[in-house]
Amino acid sequence: MPAERGIDEAAAVLRAGGLVAFPTETVYGLGANALDARAAARIFEAKARPSFDPLISHLADAADLAALVGEVPAAVAELAKRFWPGPLTLIVDRPEIIPPIVTSGLDTMAVRVPDEPSARALIAAAGVPVAAPSANRFGQLSPTRAEHVVAGLGGAVDVVLDGGPTRCGIESTIVDARGDRPVVLRLGALPVEAIIEAVGPVEVRQGSSGQPVAPGTLAAHYAPRTPLRLGAAADPGGGRRGFLAFREPPADGDWAAVEVLSPDGDVTAAAARLFDALHRLDAAGVTEIVAEPVPDTGVGRAINDRLRRAAATWH
Ligand code: TXA
Ligand code: MG
Repeated sequence: MPAERGIDEAAAVLRAGGLVAFPTETVYGLGANALDARAAARIFEAKARPSFDPLISHLADAADLAALVGEVPAAVAELAKRFWPGPLTLIVDRPEIIPPIVTSGLDTMAVRVPDEPSARALIAAAGVPVAAPSANRFGQLSPTRAEHVVAGLGGAVDVVLDGGPTRCGIESTIVDARGDRPVVLRLGALPVEAIIEAVGPVEVRQGSSGQPVAPGTLAAHYAPRTPLRLGAAADPGGGRRGFLAFREPPADGDWAAVEVLSPDGDVTAAAARLFDALHRLDAAGVTEIVAEPVPDTGVGRAINDRLRRAAATWH
């Protein structure tokens, strides 16, 4: 089937209240019409997602933001101008037209324009904002390939668009820039350094409590089925173990499976491979995954954040 026809048909499914999984530059999203409360409810059902965890709405074009929410604070507009389309989610006031289920009852909403042509074509063809969390079951590894979506959500999705592996491999950075000082609510694919460069100092809020500012920030999240802990290749341990390395495979040790994120030592390349590597280690039949932290700069901060949360699930 030609790609364009696939997109038109998927857009029709969205308009009819169905669920479409689609690639973005970060991870695959599980999309529904954000103006349709029943369609949004199907997302929560398919993901087994708690109703207190609000969704991100996706727009085809930055210009659509004004049409949806009217005027936004200057720093929000500046960030949108600088980084959209791209892996940045911004918090704005929720307009009446967005049903409360999409925002879990919050009077704010999360919104972004993905930097993936097929995603923007899909949203434009649907003609509505598209609510889309990552297309995985709640708390599990995020999907960076169509195969991950099919394996995790299978029959719960009406259409899965396959765009190959995603470019960034890690979720968008979430920023609330409505106040005096922008607050980073979730570390992600857009490095904090880039945001500071654009709008000055920011606060990075590492929420991890039960009533989260951004529930991707629940301490336990992004977890493989296999217990994961942070550590080094030299750590003692028994059983069939897998190792997630940053740039070099372990020199010794009895590892049943090893994944190297970036032989060049590039954190951006490492992010692109992170979830794919974890999905593979998870499927390797090991009893434990040991993950080595990566350098804590740029998108490396978001990688370490995901690894810590995955490890927290297994305490
Ligand atoms: O890269 C991404 O952002 C991907 C792709 C599909 O766009 N989506 C994604 O969605 O990661 P999800 O549902 O896995 O994470 C959305 C996060 C949640 O942690 C949620 O709590 C937060 O966005 N969020 C949504 N609305 C919010 C709001 N009004 N205020 C604060 N956080 C919000
Ligand atoms: Mg998610």
